[in-house]
Amino acid sequence: MDESRIKIPWVWLAAIGCFVIAGSTGSLLRFGLLSGLPAGLGLVNVRHAHSHLMYFGWVTPALMVLIVAWLPRLTARSLSARFLWVMGAIIGFALLAYVMFIQYGYQPAELDGRRLPLSVLAATLNVLAWYAYAYLYYRATRGVPRTRPLRFWDAALIFMILASLGAWGVAVVSRLQIADPFWSQAMTHLFLDLFSEGWFVLATLGLIFAVHPAQTEKAAHWGEQLIVIGLPVLFLLALPVGLVPAGLRAIAGLGGLLVAGGLLLTIAVLWPAVSGSGGWTGWRVPLVLLTLKAVLGLGMILPVTARWAELNGLRIFYLHVLLMGFVTLGLVVAAREAWGRASVPGHRWLVITVLALLLSLVPLTGFWPNAWSGRWALQAAAVVSLGPVIVMVVMLVTLIFREVRTESELTPVAD
Ligand code: HEM
Repeated sequence: MDESRIKIPWVWLAAIGCFVIAGSTGSLLRFGLLSGLPAGLGLVNVRHAHSHLMYFGWVTPALMVLIVAWLPRLTARSLSARFLWVMGAIIGFALLAYVMFIQYGYQPAELDGRRLPLSVLAATLNVLAWYAYAYLYYRATRGVPRTRPLRFWDAALIFMILASLGAWGVAVVSRLQIADPFWSQAMTHLFLDLFSEGWFVLATLGLIFAVHPAQTEKAAHWGEQLIVIGLPVLFLLALPVGLVPAGLRAIAGLGGLLVAGGLLLTIAVLWPAVSGSGGWTGWRVPLVLLTLKAVLGLGMILPVTARWAELNGLRIFYLHVLLMGFVTLGLVVAAREAWGRASVPGHRWLVITVLALLLSLVPLTGFWPNAWSGRWALQAAAVVSLGPVIVMVVMLVTLIFREVRTESELTPVAD
């Protein structure tokens, strides 16, 4: 690939653009939960549109372009120009899926008297483009000795492919009209959870290790092994407790224990490695939030605490600690390490507004005493949800103008 094109990461700009659209949709949802949605939009469709664009248009291409940024150094090879095509297609398909989900959700669209599952078709195009990226990555790294970042990215991409089997599984279960809710829920969570806990988390950890090698090799090795062994069954813990047979849930509990243990060990290994760089806008805040996610995840192991979490609405809080706190803040730190401070203007404001957003979700959970909650909590969460969106709009606008003026500022700084 023409390297200068990847050094000026338009894919990064496009991914930020997707964050802005998906984040605004999330804020719309927050205001919609208070006073209804405009223009006949449905809450469920808007929620699907928000989460799919965050997954497909923000995190996935951002991770992909960051991995690609480090590959030439780790493999000592130049890159195929096809990476750029595939990442461009992924952004395009993500936006297409967004439009379809907001309009139709998972329901088929009526066109000329025919019922077409347009949102599912758009999501399928995304999945096919991920496979193309995984193939290019395989070609680019074939025969290269596996260092830790490469091992994490290998595993991340394998989990992405495994997760996509869940997406195919959802279609098969609905086509075969299997009535048992276990199967439809299992396939949905196979997709959602392996995608976020596997692809997102492992790929982000690989980005940290690409810049901050572990100082204690043995502990790092064990952390990596435990996560990878436990992950394949982790999704079963996200299913309603009553749906999973006791034996299977015990195995999933063991998987959850391994993943949480592996994550905590990996964080302990990374902490001294990252502490010297970046200050409070470096890796420490995302790693603290990953610790919180791992501890909350431990609570899902026992059926009794998992039931409590289900009843007390912890899911949205847990998801955003992971996806906003660790993954989104982590992507921005990784971009700064790959392309320099100039690629993430307003970074510190993002940290502040994301922490505020996470705090604003606490009163909506069962952690918060009932006597202190009320409509004000929903109003506060709605107003605070605008913070990260505004910061990312400013980041995007600044970057668009700065990129034109000072291209060289965006070239990789590490090496
Ligand atoms: C500005 C930032 C964000 C805002 C304002 C926001 C807002 C919301 C809201 C209001 C909900 C629905 C809550 C409910 O049903 O009670 C939600 C759900 C969700 N969000 Fe976000 N969110 C943000 C960032 C993110 C990010 C960065 C990701 C992923 C990378 C994400 C993924 C999800 C997922 C997976 C769900 C659950 C969807 C479902 O249950 O179908 N969100 N978000």
